[in-house]
Amino acid sequence: MSIYDIPVMQGYIRMCEDGWNQGWHERNGGNLTYRMTEEEVCQLRPYFRTPGEWVNMGVQADNLCGEYFIATGSGKYFRNVSLAPQDNICILEINETGDSWRIVWGLEKGGRPTSEFPSHFLNHSVRKAATDGKNRVIYHAHPANVIAMTYILPLTDKAFTRALWQSATECPVVFPGGVGVVEWMVPGGAEIALATSKLMAEYDAAVWAHHGLFVSGPDLDTAFGLMHTIEKAAEIFMLVQNSGKPVLQTIFDEDLRAIAKEFGVTLKEEFLD
Ligand code: 13P
Ligand code: ZN
Repeated sequence: MSIYDIPVMQGYIRMCEDGWNQGWHERNGGNLTYRMTEEEVCQLRPYFRTPGEWVNMGVQADNLCGEYFIATGSGKYFRNVSLAPQDNICILEINETGDSWRIVWGLEKGGRPTSEFPSHFLNHSVRKAATDGKNRVIYHAHPANVIAMTYILPLTDKAFTRALWQSATECPVVFPGGVGVVEWMVPGGAEIALATSKLMAEYDAAVWAHHGLFVSGPDLDTAFGLMHTIEKAAEIFMLVQNSGKPVLQTIFDEDLRAIAKEFGVTLKEEFLD
């Protein structure tokens, strides 16, 4: 029996591999965090080592005190995770005041969790609150077509949500609440973390202008599926833009309302004309 026989570790590692295979993680691009269940903490605890020092995050959340996360390492490459998980990912414990982490497993050759951990942490906090504790995953990637869209569309929640909903029929079913957009900001700190978490209180995905996409979900499949669906719609949007042909037809607002009715989802009404 090894730590890699435990299903949550297998699922996490597989998702890193899948993201790499999609082309969303050049070099060290992107990061993934998973908030463990109590049962998973029990399963993984025998593999924990003497913990490292507490490190203050510069952000705080009351509803994440004492939680455990699996996280990718800063500067580590998704393409290497499945080859040597112990050197590229880690398990973090959060302290009782909800403002510091310490490493209890992984990053055996040194390092720290992703530089975007403050953003992940605050997003976990708001998504946990918004979903009655169901949300467990925050995933950040650099999918090319979503990033390309941020150069040609107004950086508003409405413009991005409508463009994505109209690019593939399943989109309004997969993210009926729409997506938020964060203007360009310096990555890695408390400021972008706060701006993103404000949007994530309302949305389960947020675009970072000229940088990438953050998504959330109750499990790894749902979060990966949301990233995949949004990037696929963005790809279609950019293919149409690049075709040089005029748009003759699209999915109109009455069609979006019909999809919502049929699938029993509530679309964000203020985004419909
Ligand atoms: P990390 O290597 O610190 O996770 O940073 C990658 C990234 O995508 C920053 O936004
Ligand atoms: Zn990034």
